[in-house]
Amino acid sequence: MARLTPENLTRAHELIALYPLRRSAMLPLLHLVQEQDGYLSPEGIEHVAELLGLEPAEVRGTASFYDMFHLEPVGKYVVAVCTNIACMLAGAYELLEHIEQSLGVPPGGTTPDGTFTLEEAECLALCGNAPCLTVNWRFFGDMDRGAWDSLAEDLRAGRLEAEVPPHGALCRVRRSVGLMAKPPVGPGPAGRPVPARGGGAEVELANSKTTSAVSSTVLEHNEEGA
Ligand code: FES
Repeated sequence: MARLTPENLTRAHELIALYPLRRSAMLPLLHLVQEQDGYLSPEGIEHVAELLGLEPAEVRGTASFYDMFHLEPVGKYVVAVCTNIACMLAGAYELLEHIEQSLGVPPGGTTPDGTFTLEEAECLALCGNAPCLTVNWRFFGDMDRGAWDSLAEDLRAGRLEAEVPPHGALCRVRRSVGLMAKPPVGPGPAGRPVPARGGGAEVELANSKTTSAVSSTVLEHNEEGA
């Protein structure tokens, strides 16, 4: 697709400023690319590498390790069905088979209209509501065939746009505080670093209740399902 837009490039520089080493910002930057394009395009990976002073192969090698990142285009909705033990015992394979038939694609496939990509997933940490699945990392538990049919219909009709944004969109809350790894602009009047505007770089924070600066920058849970 494309390199980062000017707005996202600004956000990228703000994210890089949070870390003592530029390469430490790699995962947040990759999420930024995925949010922009829906997946990690070669051009997006090259742009991240350029910003971090790395080779594209280093960035691609890291990105390919994580199953939250997609290196090929995916559908608007990525549906991940857990088939691990608790969900399997509660009928996950029967559910997966039904979803395969309803979408007409096997796990790994994308519907011809580009609406759904289906995946089989390991434990999604919602075992108490097995069987479960996620759609763009939003949780849906206590699923059965009828619940999937309703969910798919709502997604297709756009009735869940607020709860389930398109694939890659992770952040809804932007904060203006954060850890600054580098002094922003030289010494202040008393020889101390000049505080950044608003107390820190403006960073998107997915879950405002979480304080981990790295992982919480982009990860969001839907609290109803979590
Ligand atoms: S086994 Fe399915 S969420 Fe844990």
